Amino acid sequence: MSIPAFAHISEADTSLLIDFSFSNPQILHWGKSLGSIDTVSDYVKASLEPIAHAEHDEHHFVGIWRENANGNVYHPALLGHRSGSDFSQAFSVTRVDQSRSFVEIHAEDTLAGLEIWVRYEFVGGGVLRVSQGLKNLETSSFTLEDLSVVMPLGDQVAESLDFSGSWVKERQPNRRDIQPGIFSREVREGRSSHDYTIVQLAMTKGANYQTGEVWSLGLAFSGNSRHKIERTQTGRTSISASELLLPGEMILEQGESYLAPSVIASYSDSGIDGITNSIYKYVRSRPNHPQRPRPLTLNVWEAVYFDHNLEKLSELADVAKEIGVERFVLDDGWFGSRRDDLRGLGDWVISKDVWPQGLGPLIEKVKSCGMEFGLWFEGEMVNPDSDLYRAHPDWILSAGGRVPPTGRYQQVLNLTIPEAFEHVLSQVDAVLSENEIAYIKWDHNRFLIEAGGNNKPIVHEQTLAIYRLFDELKKRHPGLEIESCASGGGRIDLGMIDHADRFWTSDCNDALERQYIQRYTQIGIPPELLGSHIGPTKSHTTGRVHELSFRAITALFGHAGLEWDITTCTDDEKQKLKTWASYYKANRELIHSGSMVRVELVNPEIFVHGVVSKDKTKGLFAYANLGGQGGSKPGAIRFAGLNPEKKYHVKAVFPAGEPKYLQRQNVAWFEGIVLSGSALMHMGLQAPILFPENAFLIEIEAK
Ligand code: GLA
Repeated sequence: MSIPAFAHISEADTSLLIDFSFSNPQILHWGKSLGSIDTVSDYVKASLEPIAHAEHDEHHFVGIWRENANGNVYHPALLGHRSGSDFSQAFSVTRVDQSRSFVEIHAEDTLAGLEIWVRYEFVGGGVLRVSQGLKNLETSSFTLEDLSVVMPLGDQVAESLDFSGSWVKERQPNRRDIQPGIFSREVREGRSSHDYTIVQLAMTKGANYQTGEVWSLGLAFSGNSRHKIERTQTGRTSISASELLLPGEMILEQGESYLAPSVIASYSDSGIDGITNSIYKYVRSRPNHPQRPRPLTLNVWEAVYFDHNLEKLSELADVAKEIGVERFVLDDGWFGSRRDDLRGLGDWVISKDVWPQGLGPLIEKVKSCGMEFGLWFEGEMVNPDSDLYRAHPDWILSAGGRVPPTGRYQQVLNLTIPEAFEHVLSQVDAVLSENEIAYIKWDHNRFLIEAGGNNKPIVHEQTLAIYRLFDELKKRHPGLEIESCASGGGRIDLGMIDHADRFWTSDCNDALERQYIQRYTQIGIPPELLGSHIGPTKSHTTGRVHELSFRAITALFGHAGLEWDITTCTDDEKQKLKTWASYYKANRELIHSGSMVRVELVNPEIFVHGVVSKDKTKGLFAYANLGGQGGSKPGAIRFAGLNPEKKYHVKAVFPAGEPKYLQRQNVAWFEGIVLSGSALMHMGLQAPILFPENAFLIEIEAK
């Protein structure tokens, strides 16, 4: 089969150009669209670097797998060996398939007995999904240590941005200068983790939300991961992502293949918002993206914790109905001996002690209040104090014959054991079949330690098993929605989006913390997939007290809900919640389909973020003062993403009450003015002076 000289695919102003004129394929360009290309030779001439002194002698490229055989002395894409041999590979292309939107390259190293393939495919919004795999053709086993997707970056990249975090403080931003060497973000928790970056970004100097060139990569996987940026001593920079394989985790026998998790790659020449909106376009174009309006949710965890009682929960349902809630979720504590977090996980049978008549009476009550019912599970886990553990202590992940330390008093079930998988599937299936349950919240409250089965690492297989389990539950219960939770935001990633419909963003419902957590989680995940609840007046995880208006505006920009004992609300609070609930319903289509815009003010503690409809006729922004005043007047809010030619009506709105001000006289535009998009974007609106931790909304509508 003849190999083309090059492949050039493009979408939404992004191009990928791959050259095949040397034995090894090379990405000549990934970034801004290059227009049409007829022949590649001049692009190759433009790209070949000079040969410096003290280098190997021939002009060529290191190739997409960056083999040492091609002169690469930096991090290769593939690391592996056969008990020490075949440590170095040299692939030759055997086949190239391509269309307007994808290029798939197959290559072989006949001496090393390996076949490799990679597929770059534009999947919407200029986003590339990169998938690759490796097959062992030899009789001896091949130990694969790493197979990364490595993408070249423009030499102009100067800074990186990634996100780290922990329980109740997920996804805090880290911005750094890119220096020579490797900067790597690794996760070894066996789940994506609170510390997961979701995407890692490389940017031109000073890039911000609207300006600068930005490249990003995110591993679409919920197990171990590695994201890295490497700058060589010659000044070339690349970004890469791969599954982090534990030692000996991937040993391929003859004929066996490793299919690496896909990597989502995007490029923007309009700042970080450009990356976000490309990813949103891709995520929203998937056939399994939730289509129906995201139901306003009440989760009862912070209202009752383990104290399940039909009377109290019915009262909650009554108030929820009054407010306009559409989904009622019963959290932890309904099954087996689970009266606290010490016992019961693994026994997914409705507890006769707390629910003598089953969940039927509560579900009936919830339905009669016009809401659908949701239920909590944590199926990958088992408490040592459970019937399941007593019967099958050998079903947990472990290594070296040791019992791993418990985390929240629990162990992790080895779902790669078919009987363990079947146990969870059939018990959950039975609860779903016998009760009218539209939704499950699926938790994962501890990380994996010594994640082995038969003394071999199995994070990869365990991760695929949970995907399989979710898919099977959805197949058996059409329409079932699943929320992925892991002590809050410990399992939010671009892999889980294909199996779950919502993420629990954080166990922290403090609106101040949430402004940060949501802003940075939303870099890579659209708001309709991120649960955001109004918590109690005094936050259960920080003790901070916030105005309802601030909590309500913060919760609005997500898949909104409540997590609060609303039976204790005053009439005034209930009234405000009602108005807010209708506001959410009236605006969720916009919030869940519009482009994300983050406006920067001089004071970094003021967040202005919002959405603009695709046709740019509507915008809804939140203005939130998160810190002090930083100068007595905040200055002008200069919007972005509007149509400069259009005239817009703009006004402040307060669906759950006005914020607290620190000024003698308010700004003059609050009740409504008309300005052109250009004026809103370049002249701006003077911002009022708010107390810290206060917010209001700005509605923008084309006349
Ligand atoms: C985790 C979740 C919470 C709640 C509890 C129940 O912490 O993140 O939302 O479901 O478990 O035990």
